[in-house]
Amino acid sequence: MSGDERVVIAIDGPAGAGKSTVGRALARRLDLGYLDTGAMYRGMTFAALRRGVVEGDLDEVAAMAPAVDLAVEDGTVTVDGVDATSAIRGREVTEAVSQIAANPAVRRVLVDRQRDWVERHGGGVVEGRDIGTVVFPDADLKLYITASPRVRAERRVRELGGDVVEVEASIIKRDRVDSSRTHSPLSEADDAVVVDTTGMSIDEVVDHIMEMLP
Ligand code: DC
Repeated sequence: MSGDERVVIAIDGPAGAGKSTVGRALARRLDLGYLDTGAMYRGMTFAALRRGVVEGDLDEVAAMAPAVDLAVEDGTVTVDGVDATSAIRGREVTEAVSQIAANPAVRRVLVDRQRDWVERHGGGVVEGRDIGTVVFPDADLKLYITASPRVRAERRVRELGGDVVEVEASIIKRDRVDSSRTHSPLSEADDAVVVDTTGMSIDEVVDHIMEMLP
């Protein structure tokens, strides 16, 4: 890793590939902070729903974004002073979040806040969709964690319940929206290490990644 003290590990990849579990475990093992940037986009979406801002109204959402008070710390997400930790995982937010995340003004605001967070924490494991490509192109290690849509759907259903076929269809749809948007689409950085977690346990994945660290 680079000679300076600040270590940044970027984790990108599609929904349900195991990024969060792997990212948290990696941060624990390396004694680094962990930032789930998806929770920030979800927090913005929660704020829009709460304020009655239509998620597809580009200008209205852009006007709202800088004013939203968002804190993502230790697994708790607070939006405008309200604990939104559970609500941001609910169906309403999950259905609207892709549109909020496609808004360039929202991305500008959140990318700045993500860089601030890393500055304040002296590095960290940062997870999202554009971390290695846009937010931290100079990260010490870039991982692109993926798995087959069926495996990702099965993991989601085990965690949250639901029907595998339906969840798989919604995962494929969300991938398509996230990968085809104009601003910062989901894609792997040229220098990212691709880790396919299909058929691997979390421990196996984390051990495999730890071996990549100098
Ligand atoms: O990882 P997640 O499912 O909680 O992410 C929620 C949404 O936010 C998803 O539609 C992708 C988007 N997102 C993004 O566009 N950029 C990021 N850095 C993180 C998440």
